Amino acid sequence: MVTRNEYPTTVGGMIEWCAQELERGDVFCGHGTDNVIDEAASLVCAVAGLEHAAAISGPQAFYTRALPGGVAVAINGMLRQRIEQRLPLPYLLKEAWFAGLPFYVDERVLVPRSPFAELIAAHFEPWLEPSSVRRILDIGTGSGCIAIALARAFPASHVVAVDLMPDALDVARINVTRHAVQDRVELVQSDLFEQVEGTFDLIVSNPPYVAEGEVTELPPEYSHEPNVGLFSGADGLDSSRRILQDAARYLTDDGMLAIEVGDGAARLDAAFSKLGFIWLEFESGGEGVALLSAAELRAGL
Ligand SMILES: C[S@@+](CC[C@H](N)C(=O)[O-])C[C@H]1O[C@@H](n2cnc3c(N)ncnc32)[C@H](O)[C@@H]1O
Repeated sequence: MVTRNEYPTTVGGMIEWCAQELERGDVFCGHGTDNVIDEAASLVCAVAGLEHAAAISGPQAFYTRALPGGVAVAINGMLRQRIEQRLPLPYLLKEAWFAGLPFYVDERVLVPRSPFAELIAAHFEPWLEPSSVRRILDIGTGSGCIAIALARAFPASHVVAVDLMPDALDVARINVTRHAVQDRVELVQSDLFEQVEGTFDLIVSNPPYVAEGEVTELPPEYSHEPNVGLFSGADGLDSSRRILQDAARYLTDDGMLAIEVGDGAARLDAAFSKLGFIWLEFESGGEGVALLSAAELRAGL
C-alpha cells in the first residue's frame, strides 16, 4: 500500500498502479469491463473527470497529464472499497455505460452489461426492418438501459418498459429523465406480461437467468446485485419459460422476440425443442441471446 505522497502523479501512472492493485486484490471484472486495465482506466477517468476517448487522438498528452493530489486520494478511496468490499465499480461511480450511453445505477438494479447493446447498435438488422418497429416491450427493464437505448435507436418508436420491482423502476425513471425520453418510454410495474396491454413489433427481455444452485459459484461482486435480477428458479429459466409461453399473444404478426438466457441456452433449446431458436453471435462478447419470430412461436408451442 502506498502512502499519500507516493501516489503516481500522472494519469497513465495512476491507471497502471490501480490495475496492479486490482490484480493483487483478485477482483472479478465483469460489470462493464472484462480486465483490470479497462477497469482502472474507468475509475481514474471518472474520478478525474476525463474522457478516456480523448486518449485516442493524443495518447502521449493524455497519459502524461498530471493528476491533482486530491484526485489521487479520491481514486484510492474508491479503489479500497472496490477491493475490500468487492463492490462493482459502477455502483461506486453511480454510473454505467451501455450502448454508448451513460446510466445512473445503484444497488437497486443490475449493472448493465447485456450483449443486446450490439444488437441495438445494429438496429436489429438484418432480423428486423427498422422502419417497421413502432411498439417495443422491454421485460425486466432494471435501470432502463435497454428500453432507453432502444428508444434512441428507433426514434419513431414507443417503448413499454416493465419491471416487477418498484425500486428498479425508480432507477429507470432517473435514466428516462436523464435521456429525455419521458414521452416515449413508459414505465410499468408488472409481473412479466401481467399489466401489459396491446401488441408489439419487438419484445426484448434480459430476464433473471442464473440457476439458484449457482449462487455459491458466483464471484462476491454479484452479492451486491438484487437477487430478483439474477435468479429465476432451480434451473434459472422460470421467467424465460413464462415469457416464451406468453410472448406470441403480445407480438404483431411480423413481430420478433429477443430473449437473453446466457448459459441457459442449451437447457432452453431442449425444453422447447419444437421452437427454431436463432442463437446470435456477438463480436464484442456475450452469448445466449435468441431470436424467435411471432410465426415461429405460434407454430412451435
Ligand atoms: C437481468 S436483470 C436485467 C436488467 C436490465 N434489463 C439490464 O439488462 O441491465 C432482470 C430484471 O428483471 C426484473 N424481474 C425479475 N422478475 C421479474 C418479473 N417476474 N416481472 C418483471 N420483471 C422482473 C428484475 O427486477 C431485474 O430488474
